[in-house]
Amino acid sequence: MQTITLNNGVKIPQLGYGTAAIGGWQADNDYVKDTILKAIELGFRHIDTASLYGNERSVGRAIQESGIPREEFFVTTKVWHTEQGAANTVHAFDRSRERLQMEYLDLYLIHWPYPEKTQETWTEMEGLLDDGLIKSLGLSNFRASDITDLLSYARHKPVYNQLELHPYFTQKELADFCTAHDIAVSCWSPLGTGEWNDTPKDEKPILDAAIAEIAAKHNVSAVQVILKWNLQSGRIVIPKSETPKNMASNLDLDGFTLDAQEITRIGSLDKGKRFGGDPDHVHDNAMAQIVPA
Ligand SMILES: NC(=O)c1ccc[n+]([C@@H]2O[C@H](COP(=O)([O-])OP(=O)(O)OC[C@H]3O[C@@H](n4cnc5c(N)ncnc54)[C@H](OP(=O)(O)O)[C@@H]3O)[C@@H](O)[C@H]2O)c1
Repeated sequence: MQTITLNNGVKIPQLGYGTAAIGGWQADNDYVKDTILKAIELGFRHIDTASLYGNERSVGRAIQESGIPREEFFVTTKVWHTEQGAANTVHAFDRSRERLQMEYLDLYLIHWPYPEKTQETWTEMEGLLDDGLIKSLGLSNFRASDITDLLSYARHKPVYNQLELHPYFTQKELADFCTAHDIAVSCWSPLGTGEWNDTPKDEKPILDAAIAEIAAKHNVSAVQVILKWNLQSGRIVIPKSETPKNMASNLDLDGFTLDAQEITRIGSLDKGKRFGGDPDHVHDNAMAQIVPA
């Protein structure tokens, strides 16, 4: 599995497996565990979860049942909005670690920016990293202003910012800002097919005519083209799939290469169209979401 080296020297598999809402929102049961186990059996070693997804137990159980040594996995989880701040972050991390049944996390992210709490949260996370309980610290949905602010006091630089990024929402300016600061870009809802709002399915990038044309030329699927566009652009990408055929196809990206013109063409499909939450407006909704015990 192709890796990239983060700014702290840690290697991360560029292709990961997203776990949000497998089997339904916050489901945490044998179906979720078996689905993740299938993804592992097919080859995924980088797994993205979050306390809010409510499925950390299933992630931990799948990894244990796989029989594959823990060190071969790269596991990311995230601290939720209501868990931020000096008094909460360490406890939130302990709860995640307990549910995951893991001694350490590879990457711990702040799920959404909460500027009034970010410094306290980050400082707590830095303590956990100093204690060896986390290998790398990162961000999710952080804007350039949030990152600039954080860099003014961070002892440990974030390695990574996980953003909604797909051909209809390329976030070029923010992605370039991250790259200029040596912060890797990871793409959530990379297929633009996540069901985080009411956008009709036929307006999603996997049905885009230009992508279909590129896919036909390479004899691959539109999904494979989108994933490859991210990999060749140096980004990390974490598609979610519950369908084994789709999981296998998402892992099968080595047999073709997009040329520079195709990469530019996909990038130019941007419509500035978010399918998910907006960090400028997420706060009240995020505070209302409950992390399952
Ligand atoms: N940081 C954040 O705020 C944030 C927000 C949202 C998501 N995320 C992370 O990003 C991950 C991915 O995002 P997402 O789940 O929203 O959306 P996504 O990965 O863009 O899309 C998932 C959808 O695409 C389908 N799909 C996957 N592979 C396919 C293939 N080869 N052919 C056809 N359809 C395919 C899946 O169906 P099947 O299941 O049937 O294959 C599912 O309906 C999440 O699971 C989560 O880990 C992070």
